[in-house]
Amino acid sequence: MKFSVFDNYDEVSFEAFKILRDAIRTNPTITLGLATGSTPLGLYKLLVDSYEKGELDFSKVTTINLDEYEGLSENHPQSYHHFMNENLFSKINIHPKNIFIPNGLTDECERYHKIINTHPIDIQILGLGENGHIAFNEPDDNFSRVTHRVQLTKSTIHANSRFFTKEEDIPKFAYTMGIGEIMTAKQILLLATGAKKANAVKATLGPVTPQVPSSILQFHPNVKVLVDKEASI
Ligand code: F6R
Repeated sequence: MKFSVFDNYDEVSFEAFKILRDAIRTNPTITLGLATGSTPLGLYKLLVDSYEKGELDFSKVTTINLDEYEGLSENHPQSYHHFMNENLFSKINIHPKNIFIPNGLTDECERYHKIINTHPIDIQILGLGENGHIAFNEPDDNFSRVTHRVQLTKSTIHANSRFFTKEEDIPKFAYTMGIGEIMTAKQILLLATGAKKANAVKATLGPVTPQVPSSILQFHPNVKVLVDKEASI
């Protein structure tokens, strides 16, 4: 694990952007694993800016998202489909057939597992939950292997409440890529910013346990942890 501390959120975003920009230029048919949430927004904006300047071509890029809420359709304003369309896909020249996001309306865990197997992920972007979750793999007794349906914890539901008008509207279940699948990515970038993530960052580097899902990343051969000062220990 390579751990780097930057002054602020913008610098973390720029570092992640440079890694993706160079990787896309080197390999135009790259497969990227993508996350939603607040953390990668700066990165996605930089990718869009770079595309608009004519510096990047996404026409042969494939993306595989980590997760989706159960019960939300693609067009639901709080769905991760919608989030990705708004913040990235509608603003770049990615081909819709190269975009993969779990369908929140059907249990398609097996299909998603096959997609990940047939499109090995070159670089996986991860945000970090305050409880150490990665994707929607919550603290548990075991590390999950493959895409599955998961019950969200109270802490995650609370953290996500900022995106919904009423807490009771937040879905209580989601479909998520499994930790085993995340670990098959050739390279992983874990981004964490802000003081609220400091405990999770510390725990990520502590004993490896399924109670801190992100701690498994210590066993991956190519992980960069990019954090700002507030999230660093
Ligand atoms: C989102 C995801 C989650 C988030 C995490 C951090 O696709 O998989 O694990 O990365 O909850 O969320 P933010 O970035 O909003 O703090």
